[in-house]
Amino acid sequence: MTMNLHPLHVQFGAQITGVDLKQSIHDELASSLRQCLADHAVLVFPNQGLNPAQFEAFGQVFGDLMPQQFKQYTLDDFPFIGFNSTNDLPRKNGKLQVRGENYHTDHSNELCPPRATSLVAVQIPSVGGDTQFVDVRQAYDDLPQTLKQKIKGVRSLHVLQSSRSPRSFTKLSDEERAKIPSHAQPLVIEHPVSGRKALYLNTGRMEGLLGMPEEEAYDLINLLYEHSTQSKYEYRHRWQVGDVVIWDNRSVMHQANADYDPEEFRYLYRLMVSGDALLAANA
Ligand code: SIN
Repeated sequence: MTMNLHPLHVQFGAQITGVDLKQSIHDELASSLRQCLADHAVLVFPNQGLNPAQFEAFGQVFGDLMPQQFKQYTLDDFPFIGFNSTNDLPRKNGKLQVRGENYHTDHSNELCPPRATSLVAVQIPSVGGDTQFVDVRQAYDDLPQTLKQKIKGVRSLHVLQSSRSPRSFTKLSDEERAKIPSHAQPLVIEHPVSGRKALYLNTGRMEGLLGMPEEEAYDLINLLYEHSTQSKYEYRHRWQVGDVVIWDNRSVMHQANADYDPEEFRYLYRLMVSGDALLAANA
């Protein structure tokens, strides 16, 4: 079998065919896949239909697996495999309250956020429920030089839920809440493999910008967020059962959609690959 790569967007994303992720992944293939993820930021493997054990083995190609935050949404026999299921979602006025429904990067309040997150589509509604990605490397590259200078070296405190969060997060017990860290993250990061710079944004978790007056900070965050989420930076993944998608949390933001019939069932396995502390971009 030969691995084939088809671009999904002019700037990022690749569909990979000619690999069977159910078989053990030899070192040469593993190394190519890691490089592909660093370069293309989102990889789509159609029609793989992995079971939890095979999915775990796939995730380990990219690094150690990171424990899921919500134990109640984790498979009993596979503590690193979570699930996104319609059955667990609250409803408001008949609409599903989907987790991850605005662009974000996962667990940005951790000192070492996950380097990658991956999903396997087990059951998908007949229409809707896509996942969208935006390329925050290209969004950074396209900023005017004056703005690049302004945000150089700036950091933001990422917390459990920002006081200006556009969405509510899963309710936690006091004990769970006490374990959630906060961390100051660079506004511009540098990818440790590709060397590319990227905006690091998460409006649900960013508590202003360090050393900047509150209104000015949120105006700047909102401007960068609006810029980064333009449709020209977006790849929208329309799921098919059996798809495996993995993305690099240091190169893209992603968002879920609650636009499907709440009576239909949507169920995906989810895992995260452990990451290192983020690198601040210096130039
Ligand atoms: C997420 O991880 O933010 C959810 C993605 C999805 O279910 O589409």
